[in-house]
Amino acid sequence: MNSKRISILLTHLGLWILPLLQVAHTAPPPPVECLSTSGYGCTVSSTYGVWPDRSTCKVAKVLYPTTEQELVAAVADGVKNHTKIKVVSKYSHSIPKLVCPGGDEGMLISTRDYARTIAVNTSSLTATVDSGVELRELVDGIAAHGMALPHSPYWDGVSVGGLLSTGAHGSSLWGRGSAVHEYVIGMRLVIPASPEEGFAKIIELVEGDEDLNAAKVSFGVLGVISQVTLTLQPLFKRSVTNNFTSDDGLEDNIAPFGLQNEFGDVLWYPSMGKAIYRVDNRAVNTTRGDGVNDFIGFRQTSSVFAELRRSAEEVSEETMNADLKCKLAEAQVALFVELGAGLKNNDFVFTGYPVIGYQNLIQTAGNCQNAPDENPPELVCAWDPRVKGLFFHQTAVSISISQISSFISDVKKLRDADPSSLCGVDLYSGFFMRYVKKSTAYLGKTEDVVDIDITYYRSDKATTPRLNEDVLEEIEQMALFKYKGLPHWGKNRNLGFENVTSKYPDLPKFLDVRRRFDPQALFSSEWSDAVLGIVPEGVSILKDNCALEGLCICSEDRHCAPDSGYFCKPGHVFRDARVCRYNASLSEPLTGDRRCGSDLQSQM
Ligand SMILES: *[C@@H]1O[C@H](CO)[C@@H](O)[C@H](O)[C@H]1NC(C)=O
Ligand SMILES: *[C@@H]1O[C@H](CO)[C@@H](O)[C@H](O)[C@H]1NC(C)=O
Ligand SMILES: *[C@@H]1O[C@H](CO)[C@@H](O)[C@H](O)[C@H]1NC(C)=O
Ligand SMILES: *[C@@H]1O[C@H](CO)[C@@H](O)[C@H](O)[C@H]1NC(C)=O
Ligand SMILES: *[C@@H]1O[C@H](CO)[C@@H](O)[C@H](O)[C@H]1NC(C)=O
Ligand SMILES: *[C@@H]1O[C@H](CO)[C@@H](O)[C@H](O)[C@H]1NC(C)=O
Repeated sequence: MNSKRISILLTHLGLWILPLLQVAHTAPPPPVECLSTSGYGCTVSSTYGVWPDRSTCKVAKVLYPTTEQELVAAVADGVKNHTKIKVVSKYSHSIPKLVCPGGDEGMLISTRDYARTIAVNTSSLTATVDSGVELRELVDGIAAHGMALPHSPYWDGVSVGGLLSTGAHGSSLWGRGSAVHEYVIGMRLVIPASPEEGFAKIIELVEGDEDLNAAKVSFGVLGVISQVTLTLQPLFKRSVTNNFTSDDGLEDNIAPFGLQNEFGDVLWYPSMGKAIYRVDNRAVNTTRGDGVNDFIGFRQTSSVFAELRRSAEEVSEETMNADLKCKLAEAQVALFVELGAGLKNNDFVFTGYPVIGYQNLIQTAGNCQNAPDENPPELVCAWDPRVKGLFFHQTAVSISISQISSFISDVKKLRDADPSSLCGVDLYSGFFMRYVKKSTAYLGKTEDVVDIDITYYRSDKATTPRLNEDVLEEIEQMALFKYKGLPHWGKNRNLGFENVTSKYPDLPKFLDVRRRFDPQALFSSEWSDAVLGIVPEGVSILKDNCALEGLCICSEDRHCAPDSGYFCKPGHVFRDARVCRYNASLSEPLTGDRRCGSDLQSQM
């Protein structure tokens, strides 16, 4: 009998001893695994299980402070020993290696067990929260006091410290905009200090301090966030209507739609020629409705279903049959629309639009992270690495609102040449477009932008090319280099950060704060040094097959997969792009008998 059934049985019997028997309570595997139970000889991974370069990230030691005093002691310990230090949250959702300390001997500070205070002040409309608090705890905690955080990411399993550090956001061009860091008015940070000061100290930043513009979005290179003060609003309701329609005119509609709808966003399914405009605005408090956003993609999924979905993708890849992905995508989108994307008019069902509900229950969703801990797991997040479920790349780039129309037109040209080449993307919610406002944070958005998330199949092997990968590679390079898009700090493949320093005019100010807060660069790593342009090597890793996983932009055929027929070629619409394109006739001499023949010839 598995623990879930035992639990149900015991609950029926009125017994409540189970929590004592359980070791871990929830499903995703912990990001840190150690050889010893006291936390030595560890490795750290993301919640997806595999880093962009597929390397193992080693850490000498992990600490789980529970109080600010313990946190200061942990930092002091590291500084005294001259150890590299990084902070990781309970789940570790960032795709790039942001939580890996430099070298193999660094130290990790986990906020898993860190204090979970949410102190709401209803007269000043603020909340002061500890950095390990999860987004779900935060929005529900403040809602209990009649308060709302006006914007947040859509996935609720992230920590406050982590979501701020990577610049996470919702969707809005109104007011202060959709990035959570725009609502930060105070922060307590633990940073390195001199021996006389005890090797670590707390600094407090408040709104108006220049340095807060660095600390709000810092991807962990300044020190450890201990506590954050956010400015809030009285709790309000939202009214949501998803408008599933043609993508005709999307390039003209996209900017005005963002200005007209406070929380609007757009899901674009290019292969189908469809889009879902999310018409989403405040409703007066007295409007009837107890709606909930139980977004389908973040629900607990049966591991069997997650595996089936993956094997269907694999069949399509192996047989190079894009139509299979198109059919799957169409069925999936039809179901998604039918189920209102997971919106419910009450706790149970979707009965129709509009869905009206309180902000905390609409703004963000999750729940798969709360699946029961079972071995083997039955219910999981669809991407849980313990099952052979979803495994993907994610490209997330923000394009200036003044350029977004041309970008969409360019993508439509590529789409029109072969719509089925983008079915694989539509299987992962297409192009997911959200609005973000220009920021005062040094590493925040430099203009009003449309952020585009594109999620797509990743092979189990670094050397296996993907079906139609040239099309997405061209779109990725177009977004990043033709339209000078800004990469999301917590998503993207390595090439997303190529020359990123040239896109941030305030980078020198950020680096100045880094030098003052952490002069020995203990909170910096190989990855952060590469992204911030501190080392000349940059973020790309040039080797055979490197372009397949976005570790590089190809410049030679060997960066693609010439043996499988994928060669480095210019883009069709963006001629400066260099992409891995399949050409059966070129691959022929390298396969089968003829390859043996040519090998023989060269030996003779
Ligand atoms: C610092 O060094 C001391 C003595 O070698 C050791 O006990 C401690 O674990 C080290 N701390 C870290 C964070 O490596
Ligand atoms: C709440 O904020 C008000 C106004 O800023 C302040 O006077 C009061 O002391 C705060 N209350 C607490 C408990 O901090
Ligand atoms: C809306 O209702 C909530 C809960 O009843 C309340 O706490 C909040 O202050 C109200 N908001 C407005 C803007 O009246
Ligand atoms: C939905 O989109 C159609 C155009 O495709 C438009 O005519 C209609 O007004 C939209 N509905 C809403 C509620 O925005
Ligand atoms: C990045 O900058 C270097 C040096 O200026 C340049 O050679 C390279 O082409 C740039 N990369 C991209 C992708 O634009
Ligand atoms: C494949 O390569 C051959 C030889 O260079 C070329 O003539 C042909 O146009 C290519 N086919 C495609 C689909 O690009």
